[in-house]
Amino acid sequence: MAEKHVSSRRVLVTGGAGFVGSNLIQNLARQGGYDVSVIDDESLGSPDAIRPFVNRYEKGDIRDKALLKEVLSDRDTVVHLAADTRVMDSIADPGHNFEVNVVGTFGLLQEARKANISRFINASTGGAIIGEAEPPVHEEMPARPLAPYGASKLAAEGYCSAFEGAYGLSIASLRFSNIYGPLSFHKGSVVAHFFKRILKGLPLTIYGDGCQTRDYLFVGDQAEGIRRAIDSSACGVYQLGSGQPTSLNELVALMREIVGTGFPVDVIHDDFRAGEIMHTWCDISKATSTIGFSAPTSLRKGLVSTWNWFRDNRGHFN
Ligand SMILES: NC(=O)c1ccc[n+]([C@@H]2O[C@H](COP(=O)([O-])OP(=O)(O)OC[C@H]3O[C@@H](n4cnc5c(N)ncnc54)[C@H](O)[C@@H]3O)[C@@H](O)[C@H]2O)c1
Repeated sequence: MAEKHVSSRRVLVTGGAGFVGSNLIQNLARQGGYDVSVIDDESLGSPDAIRPFVNRYEKGDIRDKALLKEVLSDRDTVVHLAADTRVMDSIADPGHNFEVNVVGTFGLLQEARKANISRFINASTGGAIIGEAEPPVHEEMPARPLAPYGASKLAAEGYCSAFEGAYGLSIASLRFSNIYGPLSFHKGSVVAHFFKRILKGLPLTIYGDGCQTRDYLFVGDQAEGIRRAIDSSACGVYQLGSGQPTSLNELVALMREIVGTGFPVDVIHDDFRAGEIMHTWCDISKATSTIGFSAPTSLRKGLVSTWNWFRDNRGHFN
C-alpha cells in the first residue's frame, strides 16, 4: 500500500480557480493534509472544479488589501498564481498587466509579511523572462523579456528575492514552461487553443513555418512539482518544464494522430508574430536535484488525457 503523505499546511492559493490552480488544488486534495483557501476574481477562471476541495473561496481581487488581510489571517503558506497571464494582452495593455502582476504581487508580499507567512511560492515563467537565447534556458541566464508579461514576472521575481533578503520570507519562484492539460478550457495557449479549434472543425493557424520549439509540461507533473516546492524550504528561482523541445509541426502531427480521422486537422500558415520567441525549452536539473521535481508524463500520454478531457467537456467552452 502507498504511504500516505502527511502535511498540515494552511495554504492560500491566489488565482486558484484558474487552470494551474484547479489542477494543483485537486492534487493537494488527493495527497491530503492541505487546508486550502482561494482568492480569485474569476476574470478568467471558474471555481467549478475546485469547490469540493477548498475550505474557503473568496471571489475577489488580489489588489484588495482588506480582503487579503482577512484571508491570510489563518494561513501559513501562499501559492501565488493570480496574474494577467496572456502575453498578447500584455502587449495590447501593458498598464493593466503591470497593475495586476507587479503591483498585485508587491501588495501580496507586503500582506504575507505582516501575516507571518512561512512559505511563499511565486508563479513565474521561463521563456517569457529570458527572451530569445540559446536553449536550454536555465536559472543563471541573463533576463531579457520581449513583452510586458515577461517584464512583469521578472519584476515580481525581483520583489520575491528582496522580501527573502530583507525580511527573511521563505520564497521560491517557479518558472513554468508551456503547461497543458485538463481544465484549460479558457486558455489561449497552443494545446488548448488547437484542441478547441479541432472540436469546432476549424483550421489551425501556425505563425511562421512551424519549426519554432517549446517545452510542453503536463499539468499533473507541474502540480506535483508545486506541491513538492510547498513542502521544501528551497528559495530562489527554479525552472519547471519537461526538459524537451518540441516543434509546433511535431505537436500538430501528434495531435492529428491522437484525435483520429473523425476530426480533420487543417493548417493555415501566417506571418511570424512580433514578441514571439523562436526557440525555447528548459534545463530542469536544478528543480530536480533541489525540490525533487520530475516530468514523467510523455507528451503523447499528456495529450491523450487532455484531448479526452476537451472532448468530454465540450459544454464548458461552446
Ligand atoms: N499556464 C502556463 O502555461 C503558464 C506558463 C508560465 C507561467 N504561468 C503562470 O502560472 C500562473 C497560473 O497560470 P494559469 O495558466 O493557471 O492562468 P489562468 O489565467 O488560468 O489563472 C489565473 C487566475 O488568476 C485569476 N486572476 C487574474 N487576475 C486576478 C486578480 N487581479 N485578482 C484575483 N484573481 C485574478 C484569474 O481569474 C484566473 O483564474 C500565472 O501566474 C501564470 O502567469 C502559467
